[in-house]
Amino acid sequence: MLVLGLETSCDETGVALYDTERGLLAHALFSQVDVHVEYGGVVPELASRDHVRKTLPLVEEVLQAAGCEGSDVDGVAYTAGPGLAGALMVGATLARALAWGWGVPVLGVHHMEGHLLAPMLEAQAPQFPFVALLVSGGHTQLVRVDGIGQYRLLGESLDDAAGEAFDKVAKMLGLPYPGGPHIARLAERGDAQRFDFPRPMVNRPGLDFSFSGLKTYTLNTIAQCREGGADLSEQDRCDIARAFEDAVVATLVIKCRRALEQEALKTLVIAGGVSANTRLRSALETALAKVSARVFYPAPMFCTDNGAMIAYAGAQRLQAGQVDDAATRIRPRWPMEELPPLPGQGIQQRSTAVPGLSE
Ligand code: KG4
Ligand code: ZN
Repeated sequence: MLVLGLETSCDETGVALYDTERGLLAHALFSQVDVHVEYGGVVPELASRDHVRKTLPLVEEVLQAAGCEGSDVDGVAYTAGPGLAGALMVGATLARALAWGWGVPVLGVHHMEGHLLAPMLEAQAPQFPFVALLVSGGHTQLVRVDGIGQYRLLGESLDDAAGEAFDKVAKMLGLPYPGGPHIARLAERGDAQRFDFPRPMVNRPGLDFSFSGLKTYTLNTIAQCREGGADLSEQDRCDIARAFEDAVVATLVIKCRRALEQEALKTLVIAGGVSANTRLRSALETALAKVSARVFYPAPMFCTDNGAMIAYAGAQRLQAGQVDDAATRIRPRWPMEELPPLPGQGIQQRSTAVPGLSE
């Protein structure tokens, strides 16, 4: 089954073609970073307008790259939520129009399910059940995953998401949006010994997170460094970025280990924009190796928003017979636990030959 996936929930237009026999055939991405950079964050109306401009040309691009015609497509999947309402509507209406024109089924996909399943696109894919750490600009969640659509929330951020904290601290340090990669780059030159930032909520039982106190701690540290009105030196900025990144990473690692222990599982999946962070990846690898557990993550380009994850998640559900009715629905807020399970679970064994599923 050949599925076209459209992702337009925020500030990236992502389009991909996934085939359940042959794997990922083509994908294309347009990042709106330059559109929003002067505002220091995403401007919803500008995001919607840019998706209108970019989505159809990207659809043509991926069809051409895969050597396919629209008439070859067997189903269309789009991000129905969570996300910005206007941006979601662009993907939803285009997906429905294409599917209607081609006479094929269409399905709205949950953005975080897309992230969660993105590691399935890799040659080394995780097996269910596993614990997933979803860390993006809008979410920080630990989820027990027993199969597609079988999700149990174990813990989540009580305030800022991890990516949001990266973005806000980046702003404090005068770095552009989105801040995560910029903080990571500064942190490489930082002295890990100079500051010791708190690890929020690690001494309390449970699997929830809180990053707003860490943000305030960072702000106070910046104020101390600037006492007397001086500007932050380049070394100050690098050292603060390092201390902040270390604190977020250490907190996430502690909670992931705790979640695996609680659920008696040995497989962790990390996904979402922050999972591109190399210090987080290597810290998790080291920590989990000590308890004979393994961590799986998507390729860096599939950590942040992309069409491939939506095409993949949509393909699994469309192939199992799930389709939307004629109404165009978007869900700007959409708890992942409301998703229906996939009928006939246990068929998710991957073929080793191609990056796709064999059934
Ligand atoms: O998943 P994503 O692309 O969009 C949402 O669904 O939110 O995640 C974007 C978030 C941003 O907050 C960005 O700063 C963060 O992921 N991010 C990173 C890195 N790359 C992206 N955070 C830390 N380190 C990175 N290397
Ligand atoms: Zn995302």
